[in-house]
Amino acid sequence: MNETDRGHWGSRLGFIAAAAGSAIGLGNIWRFPYITGKFGGGFFVLIYILLLIFVGYPVMNSELLLGRKTQLAAVGTFKKLAPGTPWVIVGFMGVLAGFVILSYYSVVAGWALAYMFKSGVYMAVGADHGGIFVSSITSTWGGIFWHSVFMLLCIAVVAGGVEKGIEKWSLILMPVLVVLLIILIIRSVTLPGAGAGLSFYLTPNFSNFSGAGFLAAVGQVFFTLSLGMGCMITYGSYLKKEEDIPLVARYVVISDTAIALLAGFVIFPAVFAFGLEPGAGPGLTFITLPAVFAQMGAAGHIFGFIFFTLLMIAALTSAISLLEVVTAYSIDEMKFDRKKATIVAGVLIWALGLFPTLGYSTLSHIKLIKGMDLLDSFDFFANNMLLPLGGMLTAIFIGWYWGTDKALEEANISASRKLGSNYAFLIKYVVPIAIFVVFLNSVGLLG
Ligand code: TRP
Repeated sequence: MNETDRGHWGSRLGFIAAAAGSAIGLGNIWRFPYITGKFGGGFFVLIYILLLIFVGYPVMNSELLLGRKTQLAAVGTFKKLAPGTPWVIVGFMGVLAGFVILSYYSVVAGWALAYMFKSGVYMAVGADHGGIFVSSITSTWGGIFWHSVFMLLCIAVVAGGVEKGIEKWSLILMPVLVVLLIILIIRSVTLPGAGAGLSFYLTPNFSNFSGAGFLAAVGQVFFTLSLGMGCMITYGSYLKKEEDIPLVARYVVISDTAIALLAGFVIFPAVFAFGLEPGAGPGLTFITLPAVFAQMGAAGHIFGFIFFTLLMIAALTSAISLLEVVTAYSIDEMKFDRKKATIVAGVLIWALGLFPTLGYSTLSHIKLIKGMDLLDSFDFFANNMLLPLGGMLTAIFIGWYWGTDKALEEANISASRKLGSNYAFLIKYVVPIAIFVVFLNSVGLLG
């Protein structure tokens, strides 16, 4: 297969929209605010930003340059650069992670779809928002229905190809996302009483921060930047040699961070203005926020609809990148054409997704890991084990096997500001050690 068959990004802006679209997702709008709430606000945000710079940015460059070097997805990349060695397993772990993450990501995105279409009912004044959330996730057919609709959307986009599917839709959806976010920020920070939320969010507070907060921040950096499973290797494989890797990596990291920080400006002022709890955990988005919208009266339905549309768009452009990892694997390694590859991958992931969906109803007796339901178990397995392990091995691969000199050469081909010895130092030492500590903790060895 020659290069044109496999597809390339049509423009730099298109690539940035797609890669930022992958990075900006539930991780920014659903996960970032609730873990920030849980670990005490300001100081957590500071640690998170330092980790983005010293761990996230070098790994983002690493994945992009590996993919561009080989022009292959994750499995093909490791096969080509380390033929006949077990390194290929890192590629397969990525494909597995793509399967597992998308299977439950689609379930959560399906909830967002349901909330979007039913905002009038769900955001009604005086409704029991916790009860509504529980009954909507425990409804067997409702869960299957919204998960299926969301997977169909993903399949439709990815089947369209790199430029005409993923890039085109990212260029349409990402600006919409930014506009919706700005509307919501303006509403939220102008609510009476919003100031308390702003000061919670922006004032460093050391008391709630602990070792666990540091670990959560490392995990969040990987999840939010779509790192550790070959997603950015796959997206990098559609980059041309003229593209400036360090520059586009900076754009992606900065836009992802900006959107996460801005999402905090929507959520905290609103939550505090109505006297609700910022540390509500995963329910912050689906229980606390609907309660906030309900208190805004009739306009709340509209703001609720806008918020869940925003969440759905963010999830969609991320989900397509997860599906693309599996699709690109079967295009490169099994020589499927794109339509067939997308449909086969999409249907298998949809089927796997029935487990986390039904984990709240028919299968609620199954507790896979540490007493967690199926969705949380899938999330734990992928985010706390596969992603950090994948990220650590990718860094070790470049730092200690393939060589940072070769990596620098590839990254710097068309770089305006070249990467140098700082990159090499971070990839060889800082990244593997930081992740190793997190990983030990996840598997429970640090107590
Ligand atoms: N980054 C996305 C988010 O923040 C999720 C995601 C998409 C992802 N592709 C990924 C996470 C690859 C890890 C690996 O919601």
